[in-house]
Amino acid sequence: MGDWSHKLLKWYDVNKRDLPWRATNDPYKIWLSEVILQQTRVNQGWDYYNRFIEKYPTVSKLAVASEHDILKLWQGLGYYSRARNMHHAAKEIVAKYKGKFPIDYESIRALKGVGDYTAAAITSIAFKLPYPVVDGNVLRVYSRLLGISTPIDSTEGKKKIWEAAAELLPKNNPGNYNQAIMELGALCCTPKSPNCPECPVQLACYAYAKKQTGMLPVKQGKTKVRDRFLNYIVVSKGDSLLLRNRKGNDIWKGLNDFPCIETEKAITPENLISNKELKAILSTANPVIESVSTPYKHILSHQRLNAQFIKIKIGKTLKKLPNDCFWAEKKKINQYAVPRLIERYISNYL
Ligand code: ADE
Repeated sequence: MGDWSHKLLKWYDVNKRDLPWRATNDPYKIWLSEVILQQTRVNQGWDYYNRFIEKYPTVSKLAVASEHDILKLWQGLGYYSRARNMHHAAKEIVAKYKGKFPIDYESIRALKGVGDYTAAAITSIAFKLPYPVVDGNVLRVYSRLLGISTPIDSTEGKKKIWEAAAELLPKNNPGNYNQAIMELGALCCTPKSPNCPECPVQLACYAYAKKQTGMLPVKQGKTKVRDRFLNYIVVSKGDSLLLRNRKGNDIWKGLNDFPCIETEKAITPENLISNKELKAILSTANPVIESVSTPYKHILSHQRLNAQFIKIKIGKTLKKLPNDCFWAEKKKINQYAVPRLIERYISNYL
């Protein structure tokens, strides 16, 4: 424990945000909040957290929920596999531990979807066990504070910081310390223009002393982003709309979208309309094109989705439903769990 850590803890005591999950020792609630915070900012995560806890106040309640209802509640947060993994893990906890959350690191780390970060956060915050937590904020804070210039997106850089975090972790209330260092990264030691004048550990900070806060942390390179071209066919017949439930190992498993023709490159609406696959789906159903959307872009962590939506009305029923598709009532469309991209289209065009 560095001798600056008392100052950090004092600062945390005064400045910490009053978050709903800070007033609990319940490992289930801490687990949920940490999973949500891995993918969103506190302000946005807050509402999701409250809605989730209201609907599923315990692990056992989550375990017996339907996957569709969970995904619906998660809608808009992204990284839907995290919600599915939590559901799976909740069932494990019921089956293996009679619904009582396990209390040791190994059992928690072994739950589906729980990695080093989440296991350390739950065990240190809920059970005061000495496991260091390292997230993006902590990587940045330690890189600056300790002057670690190995890229934080490399295995070696992460390892160095995990080791430093383990060494610096106080035995007394490590959960509090873990949250203090994360909070410092979130509120003070921010990526751009950190607030060094207000920083409780300014005097100990390597980057501050060497005027290097703008140079640290070092990142070796951006992850590659792949372009995809999704041409959605929005088929309607009377009051019904053709939806597709996504299966397989692609993005958005378990969520609903529309039948889709994916292409290697962008194609014009005219080329889409004369596409063979599309014609095969719609043959003999008297299709009439109602609208072609403007292009939509949607960025995921490793993919840039380029989508267009062609809305087609049919007079006669389809010869054969495309795979994984089903008819849904238009007025109930908002009850289905859909990805944000589809939600955007629905609110503009349907
Ligand atoms: N970011 C993720 N989890 C956090 C926590 N418990 N406290 C502060 N920032 C966080």
